[in-house]
Amino acid sequence: MESEALVEVRNCTMVFPGVTALDNVDFTLLAGQCHGLVGENGAGKSTLSKCIIGDYRMTAGKLFIQGKHIHIPSYSVRKSHEMGIAIVHQEFQLMGDLSGLENIFIGRYEKKGPLIDWKQLQARGEELLSYLQCDVDLKVKVKHLRTAEKQIIQLAKAMLDNPKVLILDELTAVLQEEGIQNIFRIINLLKERGIGIIYISHRLDEIFQCCDRYTVLCDGKFINSGDVKDINKQQLVKMIIGRELKNVYPPKNQVFGETLLEVRHLCAPKAFSDVSLEVKAGQVVGISGLLGAGKTELIHAIYGNHPIVSGEVLVRGKAVHLKSPRHAIRAGLGVVPDERRILGLNMLYSIKDNTILASMGKFRKWKVFQDHGKEAKAAFDINKRLNLRYYSLWQLVSKLSGGNQQKVVLAKWMLRDCDIFLLDEPTRGIDIGAKFEIYALINELAKAGKAVILVSPELEEIIGLSNKVYILYEGKVMDVVEGEHITQEVIIHDLLGVKEI
Ligand SMILES: Nc1ncnc2c1ncn2[C@@H]1O[C@H](COP(=O)(O)OP(=O)(O)OP(=O)(O)O)[C@@H](O)[C@H]1O
Ligand SMILES: [Mg+2]
Repeated sequence: MESEALVEVRNCTMVFPGVTALDNVDFTLLAGQCHGLVGENGAGKSTLSKCIIGDYRMTAGKLFIQGKHIHIPSYSVRKSHEMGIAIVHQEFQLMGDLSGLENIFIGRYEKKGPLIDWKQLQARGEELLSYLQCDVDLKVKVKHLRTAEKQIIQLAKAMLDNPKVLILDELTAVLQEEGIQNIFRIINLLKERGIGIIYISHRLDEIFQCCDRYTVLCDGKFINSGDVKDINKQQLVKMIIGRELKNVYPPKNQVFGETLLEVRHLCAPKAFSDVSLEVKAGQVVGISGLLGAGKTELIHAIYGNHPIVSGEVLVRGKAVHLKSPRHAIRAGLGVVPDERRILGLNMLYSIKDNTILASMGKFRKWKVFQDHGKEAKAAFDINKRLNLRYYSLWQLVSKLSGGNQQKVVLAKWMLRDCDIFLLDEPTRGIDIGAKFEIYALINELAKAGKAVILVSPELEEIIGLSNKVYILYEGKVMDVVEGEHITQEVIIHDLLGVKEI
């Protein structure tokens, strides 16, 4: 029997000022299926999802939800919600000062007389989490939670009203392997209940692991759609980027210079203890560890954004007091943080301003005035090198697609020409073609004698790019592997804390 079409989009066009984000796109989601929506950064995946949930009203085209023709001008998020459509957005939409519980139930508090029935809400919240098999403290303010935990809160919020259609926009971009497997388990459960899932991800292996169908978009145009079982990864890559991708990882640089960054016995309570590491000029050093192993905290501590109780950081052999990120930047460090919207970019600034933010001093006229012409030229050049997709340098970064925002963060530090790059998940949310470009860039940085620290949840990436890997386990350096000893088996073994030390 043919399953029911839960969502049907016909000839959808969505025009923003200056950009046609979707151009005549067709899309059908069937009940009980997981439908992978793939395409490069800026292809229109998030825009299509937002048209389906009524966040955007499509400029032209038709939308049917469970066969019912939707009148677009009066369609809204509220209506789509009533019709059983839920979404986990690509970017966090939580309120940092509220607890997880408040975030899940906001606007839908259950009351006992005039008062909110917190006990009941807590019980429901916990029930939801146990269904998702996740353990997050719902009483903690969301701003104190880890990225992956925030993501779970978002998922729990979406699941609250038992949706018929669930859209997951790069949900797994911030999750580690364990978390991803858990999401697949949940997806399977939902499919059995006849729920349709739209699954957006740049990690193509995931599409093959959990999706039944796929749709490829490119530059807002529909490219192809079909059953996942009928294609392989190469074919999918080709549909996405229009060419084949070989040798994803460029050959590693093997010429090292002096030690640029040294960390000695760094300790931060509850995050990590006694971490020592060394990065030479020309070297890419990977840091691997499971969720909660202390990787992000370590990066933050190195650039003065996380309190430490003992230990020191040396730049070119000299101890430096990195009391704040400002000191770190002066010492020659550049940071690509894992949360680009909060830490990496100023969302109210334009692409140009964000790009030159860390190197304004370079563009002075007579040492006093800002030379805006030079700034714009430099911003243009560097973003061109990174293949950024935008229509104007004066466009707000908030209007860029997720992956393109990430490129602007990278551009900012490349323009400053730092000596030491701390990259915390630099390819998060970046499409496969652009990932390749970023790998090449990391390689170029190393060849130019820069020191690079790379944190990534993707083992393959760490193995493909690093000359040396430090493996953190519960805040301690479990092992250090170099050269050809960097293999998947060794790292996984250490990640799980199996190795005896
Ligand atoms: N609110 C907006 N105003 C103007 N342009 C927008 C807006 N939202 C998206 N765009 C543009 O529409 C295009 C599609 O963006 P969209 O966010 O849908 O891409 P995406 O496929 O989700 O990419 P990514 O993988 O990077 O998240 C991009 O060129 C983007 O700059
Ligand atoms: Mg997107």
